[in-house]
Amino acid sequence: MHVLAIAGSLRTGSFNAALLRAALGHLPAEATVTWETGLRDLPHYDQDLDDAGGHPLVDAFRARCAAADAVLVAAPEYNTGLPSALKNALDWASRPFGNSPLKGTAAAVIGTSTGRSGAARAVEQARFVLLICGARLTDAHLAVPSARPIFDADPVVLPDDVAGALAGLVGELVTLASEPPATPG
Ligand code: FNR
Repeated sequence: MHVLAIAGSLRTGSFNAALLRAALGHLPAEATVTWETGLRDLPHYDQDLDDAGGHPLVDAFRARCAAADAVLVAAPEYNTGLPSALKNALDWASRPFGNSPLKGTAAAVIGTSTGRSGAARAVEQARFVLLICGARLTDAHLAVPSARPIFDADPVVLPDDVAGALAGLVGELVTLASEPPATPG
């Protein structure tokens, strides 16, 4: 099983990246992981550029999406929505419409924020976009509030309820990735 891990923050010391690292720790030992590092350099989504054949960095990002059996997204929340770099990457991944490189891919979304919402709105929005991509979402999703005391600590020790939810979510993702996508008809 190959997992593409996408942390939606460009910030050094991102709490969402820390949450994502913790989630990846629940994968089975035989799973392989690609940590997505291309979000900063992707061009802004431009339909003219896409129609004209795209961009090498977009091609490479789409190839990383297509190579994944599962994608795990950690979504920060900016002003009640998705950070632009993450939304931009997901918009590139959503095309070609109906044949996205994430079509049929198992997917889960987690997130954390310093506020009380725990990035719940961004998590929900990322799930919507992944559904449009044709990804197969886990029922489980996770928004962790009050990130600062948890992820500023060294070492990071997740509260028991968060650790349990994360383990359950990753387990569901692994199961989903092992099941073949339903074929129409
Ligand atoms: C935020 N933050 C934030 N938090 C939240 O719960 N809801 C929100 O709408 C916002 N809006 C917002 C906008 C902008 C521009 C910034 C910079 C921050 C706080 C945010 O949760 C916090 O900065 C996190 O630490 C961001 O995630 P990373 O970078 O630590 O992964």
